[in-house]
Amino acid sequence: MKNGYFGYYGGRFVPETLIEPLNDLLINYKKLKKLPRFQSELKKLLADFAGRPTPLFKSESLSVRAGCDVYLKREDLAHTGSHKINNAVGQALVARFSGKKKIIAETGAGQHGVAAAAAAVITGLKCRVFMGEVDICRQQENVRRMKLLGAEVIPVKEGTRTLREAVSAAIRSWVSSPRDSYYLLGSCVGPHPYPLMVRDFQSVIGREVKKQLSSAPTHLVACVGGGSNSIGLFYPFFNDKNVKFTGVEAGGAASLKNGRVGVLHGSRSYLLYGSGGQIKDTHSVAPGLDYCGVGPEHSYYKDTRRADYFTVSDSGALKAFRWLSKNEGIIPALESSHALWWVMNNKFKKGDRIVVCLSGRGDKDLDVVKKV
Ligand SMILES: Cc1ncc(COP(=O)(O)O)c(C=O)c1O
Repeated sequence: MKNGYFGYYGGRFVPETLIEPLNDLLINYKKLKKLPRFQSELKKLLADFAGRPTPLFKSESLSVRAGCDVYLKREDLAHTGSHKINNAVGQALVARFSGKKKIIAETGAGQHGVAAAAAAVITGLKCRVFMGEVDICRQQENVRRMKLLGAEVIPVKEGTRTLREAVSAAIRSWVSSPRDSYYLLGSCVGPHPYPLMVRDFQSVIGREVKKQLSSAPTHLVACVGGGSNSIGLFYPFFNDKNVKFTGVEAGGAASLKNGRVGVLHGSRSYLLYGSGGQIKDTHSVAPGLDYCGVGPEHSYYKDTRRADYFTVSDSGALKAFRWLSKNEGIIPALESSHALWWVMNNKFKKGDRIVVCLSGRGDKDLDVVKKV
């Protein structure tokens, strides 16, 4: 990354009122990265609050199916049930060390909302979460959890009433009070320095995998919504050129596979366009993947062919959801199920070692699965 750009992607395409808060955030974040007090508090919260390190589990049933060793990085076992807690705890600490009193967040699947709400409690901040009405309906359990954790959940009624509009509403709210509130973005999207910060906080996933595997993996596989669990797994292996990166998008929300370059939510990246240059409405059974854009670092990985990106349909994800539950005793999030289905349907060599990021647990998805 140079000056907020990953090659051609990233940057800061925001209203004037946000330039100064973003500059302040970058300066604060650079200082905090080097501050031993910040680092030791982060380390302690990740261990004792978030439950890290998460296990790396060899899935015998997936290994038989793929014909090589398949490991699951168990982010489903992290506190609040997904990888989102890594970033939420990190950014909540940035907010508190910067003297902010209130967090603003957006959420799709509700996992980031729950993680942000829990992180706000433990760091002594107030929390307000924007969530599309459609997502409120399909992830009710997470809405109840956020409220129990003391967060205010604001329904977003515009447009597709999913993550895209929730992000827009959160940014609008932040624009109106950038001095006392902190925008805790949930994925590696948005204006600089968010993609960088979120990657830093999520890289704990890949760093742990490096320590946990006795010999290097050949493939790293993860689902891609905004792209944070995947970048967190991939980035620590960036210079290990023998390790292949595979990102799996939802078929109905595949910005990398089917998109064109444009600007949305403060940065330049691949986006899905409909007719007349408008942003296209997306669809995925997994609310965390139901987003029309993607983090700029993934766009850079795509163009430079550092990573390959594929799509999986709703029905594939649902099959993987049931398959892993029945064969391994683990109920995966519908988001992670996309990555699982890709592994279950590809050919590998006998000596390959695949690590799949099991980004979250599927308890939140039981109602969705019942209805389809
Ligand atoms: C469990 C889970 N996995 C994956 C994602 C996708 O997000 P990202 O691509 O930022 O990891 C989400 C988003 O809400 C999620 O809840």
